[in-house]
Amino acid sequence: MIAALLEAIPLPAIFISQNARVRGANTRAVSLQPNAAEDRALVLVFRQPGLISAIENCLRTSDPQKAIYLHNKDGQETRYEVTCSFVTMGEERGALACFQDITHVEQAGEIRREFVANVSHELKTPLTALLGFIETLRGPAKDDAKARERFLGIMANEASRMNRLVGDLLSLSRVEEDARMRPRDPQDIGDILGTVVQNLEEVAQMRGHRIQFEKPALPLTVPSDRDQLIQVFTNLIENGIKYGDENGQVEIRIENVERDVKLRKPAVSISVIDNGPGIDPVHLPRLTERFYRIDSHRSREMGGTGLGLAIVKHIVARHRGRMKVDSTLGEGSTFTVVLPKN
Ligand SMILES: Nc1ncnc2c1ncn2[C@@H]1O[C@H](COP(=O)(O)OP(=O)(O)OP(=O)(O)O)[C@@H](O)[C@H]1O
Ligand SMILES: [Mg+2]
Repeated sequence: MIAALLEAIPLPAIFISQNARVRGANTRAVSLQPNAAEDRALVLVFRQPGLISAIENCLRTSDPQKAIYLHNKDGQETRYEVTCSFVTMGEERGALACFQDITHVEQAGEIRREFVANVSHELKTPLTALLGFIETLRGPAKDDAKARERFLGIMANEASRMNRLVGDLLSLSRVEEDARMRPRDPQDIGDILGTVVQNLEEVAQMRGHRIQFEKPALPLTVPSDRDQLIQVFTNLIENGIKYGDENGQVEIRIENVERDVKLRKPAVSISVIDNGPGIDPVHLPRLTERFYRIDSHRSREMGGTGLGLAIVKHIVARHRGRMKVDSTLGEGSTFTVVLPKN
């Protein structure tokens, strides 16, 4: 009966009798810990003092106990929360230990903490500057009209950086919120890119950049959220301009793909190609992380929040598409977004 009950528990579960020996273990528990054979002494099955003493305490006091069990397999650590309950089943009395995998919960917590720390830091920098200037304007520079003008200019810059940051955070959380809702509205990709290029033409000219774009002759339609795709290509083209050398160029290529090998579907591929400094391969895997910047000083100087590519990644995922980055140091970078047509 014990075996049948244990097998019905959807977690690794072990029943330990009062003499501190294994009385039964379900298949999940055996694959987690092959030592968990019937009648084996508890101390020979697990070699983690925290877990052993929790089970012993449970046997001794009949009170429920909790412990953490760390499992190492092929260098990968899994973290289990073990709940020990005292159970009486007919003649049998003992401790039932159930193992719940909490690795993801812990990781999510860590990511959240790191995110909050990053956001606070990003907000604190401009805020500190603002407070400093307010102080100066109230005191030493009170009657200095010229300094006031200059400081107000810097303050406006800092405040608009905070504004952009909050805007990006909101849009990131909005995209995450509807991640599961794939957009359906058919939109012409050439048309969307035409709009983005038009919006960025002036910024590009100011930096002496050329945007090379030819709208495809025929419409290429994908189900999409127009505003979000505008955001995607604005960031990619803007990055090409911002991080490219002065007087560089950004080329946009749109291609119809009969069948994308990875998506296994007909798709439209859009590449944004710059001839800037390129990206060292060590940075590529982390590029789409929130707040990840290669040269944070330069990015900040350009008013960047480091959230652009994180937003791009989420929007592309919501469209069930994929993104890839190819880059050669000294030659330039190519960001390609592939969006499925159905
Ligand atoms: N085309 C590119 N060439 C070289 N480096 C790039 C390019 N695109 C992005 N990067 C690097 O990747 C980092 C992350 O880009 P991302 O768009 O996420 O943030 P950002 O541009 O700094 O800020 P934001 O997009 O919010 O204005 C940038 O800071 C930059 O270092
Ligand atoms: Mg950017």
